[in-house]
Amino acid sequence: MGLLDNKVCLITGGAGSLGLASAKKFLAEGAKVAIVDLREADVERAKSELGGSNVEAIAADVSQADATKRYIDRTVSRFGKIDVLFSNAGNQGPITPTTEYPEDIFDAIMAVHVRGSFLCCKYGLPQMNDGGSVIITSSVVGAMGAPGSVAYVTAKHALVGMMRTLAKECARRNIRVNTLHPGPIDNEFQARIDAGIGKLAGGVDGRKLLDSAIPLGRHGTPEEIAGSALYLASGLSGFVTGTMVMADGGLRG
Ligand SMILES: NC(=O)c1ccc[n+]([C@@H]2O[C@H](COP(=O)([O-])OP(=O)(O)OC[C@H]3O[C@@H](n4cnc5c(N)ncnc54)[C@H](O)[C@@H]3O)[C@@H](O)[C@H]2O)c1
Repeated sequence: MGLLDNKVCLITGGAGSLGLASAKKFLAEGAKVAIVDLREADVERAKSELGGSNVEAIAADVSQADATKRYIDRTVSRFGKIDVLFSNAGNQGPITPTTEYPEDIFDAIMAVHVRGSFLCCKYGLPQMNDGGSVIITSSVVGAMGAPGSVAYVTAKHALVGMMRTLAKECARRNIRVNTLHPGPIDNEFQARIDAGIGKLAGGVDGRKLLDSAIPLGRHGTPEEIAGSALYLASGLSGFVTGTMVMADGGLRG
């Protein structure tokens, strides 16, 4: 018996580090998984890495309504109604002070994280089974400020407001809605942020700087975040909704 036997799980950003690690964990627990990501080549590569017959790979831009309707429809026609909606796709911008932050990049970050999660929920919720789980990937910086990251930090905080609203709207269907807040993780996405933080701090090693601020003294692993996602996806968190689940090594404290 797996924790997600026959559950239909849709993961946006599913070809990326945390999405793919979560897809692996969900499949190992008996789920059927649809992975959505921007580029066809990436979703196909992720699909072959995952293997097996319980994977659907869909190329779509999560910031577009038509693309969202299409990835939801494809998932439902392949596997049936959705049990776990994991809105996880994300982009990032430069680490630079707000007074110099490019407006087009601000908009692009809002479009993926905030509009993308809104669209995922707007069109995904009607296609979910009652009793399901919605997980929205925020960040440790969805609960604290970080100099140089005005768009990303603002977007990740906005997702908390979205989650709290949806948790109240969806409770009557016993659909739980929570945000997952990873701290710095050992992957390429974070490596770019570490480099920017180091530069902003005057040319220091950004990774070491962050590790010295994290009580557990290190970056997390994608598998650890996938473990927290599994907790939120499954009945293990059956009485958990409207909550920010921190997986940050204690950084926020
Ligand atoms: N890596 C970290 O340390 C960290 C920490 C906190 C939060 N997060 C969040 O975790 C989530 C996953 O990040 P990751 O670390 O796996 O990075 P990643 O870059 O490996 O994965 C993100 C994925 O989202 C996809 N994506 C971007 N824009 C898209 C769009 N418009 N439509 C569809 N897909 C799109 C990318 O192609 C990529 O595959 C993101 O929301 C990120 O903000 C990451």
